Formats: sequence, C-alpha cells, structure tokens
Amino acid sequence: MFKLLKYAKNYMVPAILSPLFMIGEVVLELMIPLVMADIVNLVQADGGMSDDSMNQILHLGLKMLLLALGSLVCGTLAARVASVAGMGFGSTIRGEMIGRIQNFSFSNIDRFSTASLITRLTTDVNSVQNTFLMMIRMLFRAPIMFVVALAITIIKNRQVAIPFAISLPLIAIILAIFAPIVLGRFRKMLKMFDGFNASIQENLTNIRVVKAFVRSDYEKDKFKKSNDALLQATLHAEKLMILGQPTFMIIMFGTILAIVYIAAKAISAETLRIGDFSAIFTYIMQILINFLMVVLLIAQFFMSQASAKRILEVIDEVPDIRDDDAVNTEVKDGSIEFKNVSFKYDGAQNPVIKNSSFKIESGEMVGIIGATGSAKTSLVQLIPRLYDVTDGEILVGGVNVKDYKIHTLREEVSMVLQKNVLFSGTIAENLRWGNKNATDEELVEACKIADAHSFISSFPDGYNTELTQGGSNVSGGQKQRLCIARAILKKPKILILDDSTSAVDTFTDSKIRKGLRECIPATTKVIIAQRISSVEDCDKIIILENGGINDIGTHDKLLERNEIYKDIYESQQKGSDDFDVMGGVS
Ligand SMILES: Nc1ncnc2c1ncn2[C@@H]1O[C@H](COP(=O)(O)OP(=O)(O)OP(=O)(O)O)[C@@H](O)[C@H]1O
Ligand SMILES: [Mg+2]
Repeated sequence: MFKLLKYAKNYMVPAILSPLFMIGEVVLELMIPLVMADIVNLVQADGGMSDDSMNQILHLGLKMLLLALGSLVCGTLAARVASVAGMGFGSTIRGEMIGRIQNFSFSNIDRFSTASLITRLTTDVNSVQNTFLMMIRMLFRAPIMFVVALAITIIKNRQVAIPFAISLPLIAIILAIFAPIVLGRFRKMLKMFDGFNASIQENLTNIRVVKAFVRSDYEKDKFKKSNDALLQATLHAEKLMILGQPTFMIIMFGTILAIVYIAAKAISAETLRIGDFSAIFTYIMQILINFLMVVLLIAQFFMSQASAKRILEVIDEVPDIRDDDAVNTEVKDGSIEFKNVSFKYDGAQNPVIKNSSFKIESGEMVGIIGATGSAKTSLVQLIPRLYDVTDGEILVGGVNVKDYKIHTLREEVSMVLQKNVLFSGTIAENLRWGNKNATDEELVEACKIADAHSFISSFPDGYNTELTQGGSNVSGGQKQRLCIARAILKKPKILILDDSTSAVDTFTDSKIRKGLRECIPATTKVIIAQRISSVEDCDKIIILENGGINDIGTHDKLLERNEIYKDIYESQQKGSDDFDVMGGVS
C-alpha cells in the first residue's frame, strides 16, 4: 500500500489540505461540550433564572452555534478535498496500470488472464482508493479526537477514565487475534472474484456461441456455481467482521455503564459537578467512536493490502519483450531468415518449434501449410516479435529482429492474426487503424486488393457503414477481407496472413492473391493456409510437421516428391472442384 502512495503525488495539496481542515473541525467540535458544561454548571448554580445568567447562557449558546457552524464548514471542505485526492489517486493508478498493460507482450498477457486484469483494474483499485480516502479523512481526525478527548476526561476526573484501561486493551487484543484470519479470507474472496469475472466475461463475449450450442442452461448453471462460490467466500470473510460489530458494541456499552456508575457515585459524593459530567459523557462517546474508527481504519488498511499487492503485480510486471538497446529504426527490405530457431511457450514442457532454419527473399510470396497444431501461427508470431525466440535468431532485412525498435519492426511487419477482430466504428475508421493518415483513395485501393471494395460499395453507407460490436454485422469472409485491407494499408515490407482467407471461397481467395502479387510486388507475403489451393501458386511452400520443417519447395516439386503434400492435395481435390467452378459470391 505504501508503495502505491507515490501515485498520489499530483494530489498532494488536497491530500494535505484535507487533514488540516479536519483538524479545524475536530478542535471546534471538541470545544462544544466545554461550553455546554459551562451552561449546565450555570443552571445548576442558580437555576439559570437571573437576568445575568440568562444573558450568559444566551452568549454561550451563540458561541456554541458559531463553533458548530465553523466545524461544519471545515468538515465539508475536508470531505470535498479528500474526495478530489482520493479519486485522483485511483485514476492515476488505473492510468499507470493501463499504460503497463499496453506494453505487455503476448506472454505477459498469457500470464495474467484478461478477467483478472479487469478485477485488478476495478475492484482492487476501488479498494485502495477507498482506503486512501479514509486514511486522509480519518488518519488525523480519529487519533486526535481520541487522544484529546481522553486527555480532557482524565484531567476532569481520573476515576471516570478507569473503565477505559480495561476495555481499550481488550478490543486491541480481539483485533490482533482476528484481523489476520479475516485478511486471509479476503484474499481468497478476491481470487474467487477473478474466477467469477472470467466466467462472466467468457459467457458475454461468446454469447453467440453459447446460444448456437443451446448451452444457456449449462452456462446459467456454471454462472450459478461461481456466483454461489463467490457468495460463500464473501459471507465467510464478512462473517467474522459481522460478529465483530456486536462484540465491540457490548464492550462499548459495558464501558459506558461502568463510567455512569462511577460518575453517579462521584456526583452524589459531590466530587463531580453535573455540568462537567455532561461534557465528560460527550467525550466518552467521542473516545469510543474514534477508537472504533481507528480500528476500522486499520482493518480497511489490511484488507486493501491484498488489493495493493495485486495492483503492484501488474505495475511491476516487466514486459519481457523490450527494445531499450535496439537502435535500428529502418527495415532495409522484406527478407526473412530463420537461423536454428527454437521456441517454447512459457510454462510448456516441450518446444513447439525445434531448430528450424530457412530463408525467404524480399518480395517473395511464400505459403506455409501443415496440420492443425503444427505451430504455423507460433512460427510467424516470432517475426514481429509477438513472442521472442527461445533459441536461435530471426533476421528481417538482414538484421536480428531484436535490434529493431519494436515500433519500427511492427510497422514493417504487418500481420493479420488468425483470431482477428474489428472494433466498433465505421469501416473507414477500422481501416485507418492500419494507417491513420490514409486518404480515401488509398482506402479504396487497399480494399480492391483485398477484394473488399465491391461488397463495401454495395452497402448503402459504403465506407461509412457502422460496424456493430466488432463486426457482427458483416459476414465472416467480409470481416477477413477488411482485416487484410487494414493490414495492406500499413504498406508493410512483410505481410503475414495467418489463415486469413479461411472463410472466403476459393475464387475470391485466388483473386486476393492475384491482387497481392500484382499490386504490392515488393512486399514479402507469407500466407498460412489449410487449403493447398490457397498456396499452390506461391514462389515456395513450407511444410511444417512436428515443430520442424518437413520440406520447402514449389507446388510442382512438392507434389512430385513429398508424401504429406501429395496426401493433403489429393484429399482436398476430391469433390471440391464443382463448387470452385461456380465462383464466389461475396
Ligand atoms: N499461448 C499459448 N500458450 C501455450 N501453448 C500454446 C499457445 N498457443 C499455442 N500453443 C500450443 O502450440 C502448439 C502450436 O499451436 P499453433 O497455434 O502454432 O498451431 P497452428 O499450426 O497455427 O494450428 P492451426 O492450424 O489450428 O491454427 C499447439 O500445440 C498449442 O497447444
Ligand atoms: Mg494457427
């Protein structure tokens, strides 16, 4: 928690002003019972009937009113600046976390789940923000109130303070025993929250799949389970806290009872005046209330420790793909070379790519083919450094990818991910993700290459058509072509299409390849596909098998000499032609 305090730097002024106003409020508030005592003592002395004492009482009453008003103003100001500081603190932490997350590599993201990141950004930040708010509001107020009220009570009458000597240590002991248990339970609850968020997030993002598979009941059941688990964990954590309140109340009222008893005896023995007792009684309430406040503050502090730790985990996570020492800000050409590259996912047992070497010349069109799970995606993700190689090196334009500034490398290596998404906004806005300064002509040109122009033009709003929820109002194949156009707009030296035409018909597929070959001849094109027809006209085709390269060659050569290739080719030939002849309808 203390480590997070540096994010309150910009809000130091309100954070300091608040306790200052608070002290004003406390001092004024504490003076009120003293004035009250004077009034009561006056009344007790002569019944308050004489004109003189009437005047004095009025005078004192006015003083009380002013003190109360002053205290109110100070209190309001203190609360106002405290919330400015508190909210500012929270939003600074959130900003810092988002900044870090943006720099995360894919493997950093693998390590935290998205759901857990969301809980950390919301629930956890709220918790530390509330603690901070409470701290600046109460940190000074409660202890000051407590100490001053206790001091005045002891000065006025020592005997009356005796019950405190028993009750206060008692509360402290109870707390010391139960706080760690509550804390442990709270940690567990936060973990449950992660799981709960994960289940909701998955359900809501994939609601269409859930419906398609008529799995609503199953999902409802799953939700109920994680919701119940969360409820139990919360109740388990809160149970002790709930027990705490009556326990403290019993101690509190016991203390008051003892004090009233002692005071009654003192008054009848005439060692204590009624007026003084009325003041003391107010202070006693203040002592107990503020002691409980301090206790609550400590409890809240410990509870938010768990959240602070989870926030710091995000802030302190070191992005494992860095470019601090890289100097190159220009990629010479689109050549790619793998030199004895091996790659293993974090936490996985075996490497998915083993000691692979090959070379692709600048401007070539290369196909990659292989069974599902043969590490095609894993292989190409290494080129723009979405993951880093475990062993060996990858050269782009003759230079190790690690020696480029990441921004430079990713500008020049444009990749259409296998699981690609569009964002809410118009088609044009989405395309300009690739290049925010692209002119309308450039948009059309890129869309023509990706064979997207014709279907976009057929929409009433054309390029200004709004895409809802990341493209749910365009078809799968249309979405893929928009993603390809978006990547082309970057005018990269290397364009990687990871199974990006899987949802378009073979006729459109070949039109797109023709467009790529003719319109951006200098760009190196790497095309991953499941269908041989998607790669057969490539300059060379790489066959992946078992994490290694099985063969590299042209379609004709591979068909002659490679058994795997021949098998795939023949299995895909059967019965697929009749549809292709019809051509694609987009
Ligand atoms: N983020 C990840 N963390 C751990 N293992 C992964 C991760 N992504 C993929 N793998 C594993 O790596 C292997 C290769 O996966 P990859 O996605 O590269 O295959 P692919 O050839 O692209 O398959 P497909 O044709 O289905 O797209 C698989 O066994 C998969 O389980
Ligand atoms: Mg893949």
